[in-house]
Amino acid sequence: MELLPWLLGFAVKYPEIMVSAVCFLLLFCRFRRRSKLPTNWPVVGALPAIVVNAGRVHDWVTEFLRAAAMSHVVEGPWGSPGDVLVTADPANVAHMFTANFGNYPKGEEFAAMFDVLGGGIFNADGESWSFQRRKAHALLSDARFRAAVAASTARKLGGGLVPLLDGLAASGAAVDLQDVFMRLTFDLTAMFVFGVDPGCLAADFPTVPFATAMDDAEEVLFYRHIAPVPWLRLQSYLKIGHYKKMAKAREVLDASIAEFIALRRERAADDADLLTSYLACQDEIGKDGTVFDTFLRDTTLNLMVAGRDTTSSALTWFFWLLSKHPDVEAKILSELRAHPPSSTGAAADLKRLVYLHAALSESLRLYPPVPFEHKAAAKPDTLPSGVSVGPTRRVIVSLYSMGRMEAVWGKDCEAFRPERWLTPAGRFQHERSCKFAAFNVGPRTCLGRDLAFAQMKAVVAAVVPRFRVAAVDAGAGEAPPTPKLSIILHMRDGLKVRVHRRRED
Ligand code: HEM
Repeated sequence: MELLPWLLGFAVKYPEIMVSAVCFLLLFCRFRRRSKLPTNWPVVGALPAIVVNAGRVHDWVTEFLRAAAMSHVVEGPWGSPGDVLVTADPANVAHMFTANFGNYPKGEEFAAMFDVLGGGIFNADGESWSFQRRKAHALLSDARFRAAVAASTARKLGGGLVPLLDGLAASGAAVDLQDVFMRLTFDLTAMFVFGVDPGCLAADFPTVPFATAMDDAEEVLFYRHIAPVPWLRLQSYLKIGHYKKMAKAREVLDASIAEFIALRRERAADDADLLTSYLACQDEIGKDGTVFDTFLRDTTLNLMVAGRDTTSSALTWFFWLLSKHPDVEAKILSELRAHPPSSTGAAADLKRLVYLHAALSESLRLYPPVPFEHKAAAKPDTLPSGVSVGPTRRVIVSLYSMGRMEAVWGKDCEAFRPERWLTPAGRFQHERSCKFAAFNVGPRTCLGRDLAFAQMKAVVAAVVPRFRVAAVDAGAGEAPPTPKLSIILHMRDGLKVRVHRRRED
């Protein structure tokens, strides 16, 4: 009661203290408003914020990038090789990925971190990368190869996935749909890479060492992104921790791939898988003996990684979104009934599924399977957002955040709305794709984009008209599943669902 007169008296007596207090309060409020930005502390850098937000890293990055006009510098702890610019600014992305592509190679640091991929396309730069890209592009777009993939995918769906889901619908048992899709895409990818079906999708869900080793290698790759460099070096020196886990995974991967290659060499070679094609053009590749075997190992492993995890992650998030948006599911169903794809999975049939294409694009915008990418400038450079980058400042591009920036996608950027991809006449708007980085942009754009869309459409066309998939959780409207700490956007706890046979309406 006496406070106001007392304050007034104090202000008259000590005006300079009152002015300082008001300034402090204003600064405090401003700091609190900006506190979404991670603080770069002396010695530990942004490590405290990283540790606190480690379980929700993608949403945390999105929050602070929104508060920071789409780019922010994060400092590592003492001993780190430099700081990192985190960005979701499409202008920066266009600059690094397209206009100044030559100044942003993957580089040695990336190759050391992703050592398991050897000299394969993901790790390669310069002449080696251009050669591998030309070759992979020619093989992946070959008409005979595409027709063979469509036919084998249709067979696997009809003879593997559909009977499996039918059994689950009959028993009423819950299943982890993420696991089902990982198994499916592992088999599908191995079929077009090695020409062999490893049978990972069998009804007893067998443990396939190759697939488990891929999971382990991926976990180590993520750990290498977040653990302090001196700690990683110590583990490598002592051959423990991430070093040991990767060495074990590598042993299994190398042995499994060597077995597939031996198998292929034994068989008559007129199959349309990629390994057969690479074996047939050894002269053009210009390598012999163990050097050629290493090339085959690196090439096939890179293709397995490219195809399995991305497509399974995309399918899992898509089916989760469908379970929360029955209106979108109904539109997809009616499109599939109007244009049912043929049993051979012909590309022309799948191309007519425009609404499904829009819904898949929308799902990939919100949940890009590759949620972030590295870039490092070979020569110092300044990005369009005004930040300098160079040998001591690397760049992480958050593709996850880029799909959720209000400045890019508008006020409803968090909403799942396939219609945003369609013109009023119902045509697909390709121009939207330039803001859409799920498949990367520029000269390093994904080589499997069309193949991935065709496979995802074939899966949706096989599942949605027959089954309704319901997420087993508290009900509609709750928070989305948490992404796993991984280089691929898998769900941390998988996606538990029940499968119901769809009744004809
Ligand atoms: C939904 C599925 C997919 C998504 C979201 C996706 C996304 C991406 C992204 C973001 C990159 C750039 C990676 C980097 O530069 O580090 C990439 C590269 C690549 N992708 Fe895909 N991908 C998908 C499916 C596939 C499939 C099925 C294949 C077929 C084998 C494939 C083959 C490749 C290859 C060969 C590259 C390397 C391109 C290069 O470095 O020049 N992808 N993909």
